[in-house]
Amino acid sequence: MTLDEMKRQAAAKALDHVSDGMKLGLGTGSTAKHFIELLGERVSGGLKVIGVPTSETTRTEAERCGIPLTTLDQIDRLDLTVDGADEIDGALNAIKGGGGALLREKIVAAASDRMIVIADDSKAVETLGRFPLPVEVIPFGLAATQRAIAKAFAETGVSGQMKVRKSDGGHVFVTDDGHWIIDADLGRISDPPRLANALTTVPGVVEHGLFIRLASLALLAGPSGIRTIERR
Ligand code: 5RP
Repeated sequence: MTLDEMKRQAAAKALDHVSDGMKLGLGTGSTAKHFIELLGERVSGGLKVIGVPTSETTRTEAERCGIPLTTLDQIDRLDLTVDGADEIDGALNAIKGGGGALLREKIVAAASDRMIVIADDSKAVETLGRFPLPVEVIPFGLAATQRAIAKAFAETGVSGQMKVRKSDGGHVFVTDDGHWIIDADLGRISDPPRLANALTTVPGVVEHGLFIRLASLALLAGPSGIRTIERR
């Protein structure tokens, strides 16, 4: 089975948690795209749901699939968000933002009663940090923000190279909200909640890709089927 087939399997399994009338957060990335396509098929078959997209790419994709959309200004809470992840550990802490949508993804997940992470099994790790941590920043004062981030890293026992993310054409990658992303190659994050708190206090940091206690379930597809991690 290919990686992409595994992603689709995880996405298909998440549909078991969707029922008529639900308000859904729609994630971003290649795994979330499978979920949106499969959800679109159910919507064509009569399922009534409404979605809030976590990126402009996802908005376009959901519209293409015929999924009715709304915004967090028009509704109160979401029942469920289904999204991918770059890494997830056994405590359901995750690194997200590889696709650059971490800010909206976190706002949407935090406004949801439940978040399900869908991924292929390779995203499951014992300790977060192998995947570079995305930190979304305001372009103004970048060097000062980077120094403050390095200080926050040192105070929480991590270190590593920081790189401003570039898009394929070599230009600085700009998020849907006009920010930049610093990818921090930390290798190992021994205390993710502590690092998350430290980064939150840095002026210039808009958001970071550590999703702490937001997911309640992970559906991880491997060659021999789906493995689940559930919040205890
Ligand atoms: C986007 C994300 C994605 O969910 C994450 O990068 C995983 O992507 P994929 O499903 O393509 O592996 O956080 O900001």
